[in-house]
Amino acid sequence: MRQWVLAVAILAAASAAALLLGAEAQQQGHQTERISGSAGDVLEDNPVGRLKVYVYDLPSKYNKKLLKKDPRCLSHMFAAEIFMHRFLLSSAVRTFNPEEADWFYTPVYTTCDLTPSGLPLPFKSPRMMRSAIELVATNWPYWNRSEGADHFFVTPHDFGACFHYQEEKAIGRGILPLLQRATLVQTFGQKNHVCLKDGSITIPPFAPPQKMQAHLIPADTPRSIFVYFRGLFYDTSNDPEGGYYARGARASVWENFKNNPLFDISTDHPATYYEDMQRSVFCLCPLGWAPWSPRLVEAVVFGCIPVIVADDIVLPFADAIPWEDIGVFVAEEDVPRLDTILTSIPTDVVLRKQRLLANPSMKQILNGLARKLPHGDGVFLKPGDERVLNWTAGPPGDLKPW
Ligand SMILES: *[C@@H]1O[C@H](CO)[C@@H](O)[C@H](O)[C@H]1NC(C)=O
Ligand SMILES: *[C@@H]1O[C@H](CO)[C@@H](O)[C@H](O)[C@H]1NC(C)=O
Repeated sequence: MRQWVLAVAILAAASAAALLLGAEAQQQGHQTERISGSAGDVLEDNPVGRLKVYVYDLPSKYNKKLLKKDPRCLSHMFAAEIFMHRFLLSSAVRTFNPEEADWFYTPVYTTCDLTPSGLPLPFKSPRMMRSAIELVATNWPYWNRSEGADHFFVTPHDFGACFHYQEEKAIGRGILPLLQRATLVQTFGQKNHVCLKDGSITIPPFAPPQKMQAHLIPADTPRSIFVYFRGLFYDTSNDPEGGYYARGARASVWENFKNNPLFDISTDHPATYYEDMQRSVFCLCPLGWAPWSPRLVEAVVFGCIPVIVADDIVLPFADAIPWEDIGVFVAEEDVPRLDTILTSIPTDVVLRKQRLLANPSMKQILNGLARKLPHGDGVFLKPGDERVLNWTAGPPGDLKPW
């Protein structure tokens, strides 16, 4: 049916994994030639099949044992770390010869530590990550060669490798010092932020594909809801004063439009949530604690035009997905005018966005890592080069072995 929708569903499914996965690349298996040239011809050139990734074999206490203890880790919005691992293990880009690897991947499930109600907590993540890096650096020669610059890590928590869900605390911690030179694959995307390192790869949060598939309704169902949103407007448990959550943008949506008949908005999460999105023209995707949520992926999958309200957001796969064309961007300060902004978009523009959302020709080649090849001169340290990483930096609690 809708191939583009499927492509996005796969993207959601394998999330991080998908960035290595062009549909064609998979069919063709891998080629041996290395990549050269600019990002532009890389896209044409299907580099994904040429990428070689070495997967470190770590003790299961860093990954599988955690999942066994709490299988819910497979379905929360940061599950990309697990799907990335699974994908790479059986992928054509995997090499068993580290000498020929372009990239090294360390499989640590740093967000697989859930509260009884299923919220992933990042408090143990730094310790675990640090310990895994130490292990890799001690047992293989590749880390020290570049101090991690040809290594990538999936750090899908709210503020990535800052490993805290509250922004101030995350900023206070900063990115884990040992990851200073590594490439981070993360859902967190906000420009000019301490927790977003240059060269990071932004991926969508995980939205379970089987679950979404199960809720598809006929594609010709009329979109009778104009604006749809389900979610929090205030987060009184974490932000009792109301000064921080969503920088007030969600509160403003509620205060301005709760009685507007064009707006179907509420905090109830109905069983028909996915069906409702397929019956809606616009789906609001305001920031929450982080700039965006699985809602964005869901809106795209269900052909509902995402209305992105999050200043300075960095969107996933921004060079492959034409966000400006398929979505609508509204500045946080313009939320009070949301009704006028949306009703004044001409019908042909709305139809065009809807067609793009369903366009089967829009194949995604998700090759963020491939595009960062070949590595530049600075990646490998030469004898006499000054070391950058400080193995004893960070709070003492992070330094305990895992
Ligand atoms: C890499 O560097 C670290 C820190 O200097 C050191 O402890 C470790 O033994 C080195 N690894 C190898 C394989 O030489
Ligand atoms: C490494 O970090 C520790 C803890 O912050 C600090 O005491 C030490 O001076 C640092 N070492 C170097 C070489 O910068």
